[in-house]
Amino acid sequence: MTYFEKALNNNPKLTDMTLDDVKIINLPKIEDPRGNLTVIEGAVHIPFQFQRVYWIYDVPGGGIRGGHAYKKLHEFIVALSGSFDVVLHDGRSEKVYSLNRSYFGLYVPNMIWRSLKNFSTNSLCLVLASELYDENDYIRDFELFKTMAE
Ligand code: TYD
Repeated sequence: MTYFEKALNNNPKLTDMTLDDVKIINLPKIEDPRGNLTVIEGAVHIPFQFQRVYWIYDVPGGGIRGGHAYKKLHEFIVALSGSFDVVLHDGRSEKVYSLNRSYFGLYVPNMIWRSLKNFSTNSLCLVLASELYDENDYIRDFELFKTMAE
């Protein structure tokens, strides 16, 4: 099964996802002398329909966001402006992605622990989420996460 098929499956097993399912996805870039344009359509350019959009900004120097995993939620993360690192862990190993352009982003499925750090000054992090906000979907204890991801 490809990561796209897994993500579109309504009932993925919680333990299905690994760092192999994380993907950098290039977005359409419509170049124009008047200014460039990039677009994201749910379930077209990214492997889920998004129900929620949020953004992280004004991060103070040295600030770290995230520090959790989701049981069900899938996300797509874009550096709309500036740059930052996304540190991922699937319970076995860690991988770091640097995001620094607005025409690609990082698909992070459920059951992947993430932290965002090294935000540049005035960076803007856009996140598209597959579900509405639900605190019960969060796993905020890394040791518990590792047990659940086994
Ligand atoms: P959290 O998801 O922990 O932030 P981070 O992006 O660093 O992982 O959310 C921080 C707080 O913001 C949390 O206590 C609840 C609130 N929040 C909402 O109310 N709605 C949302 O969609 C999000 C993402 C957070």
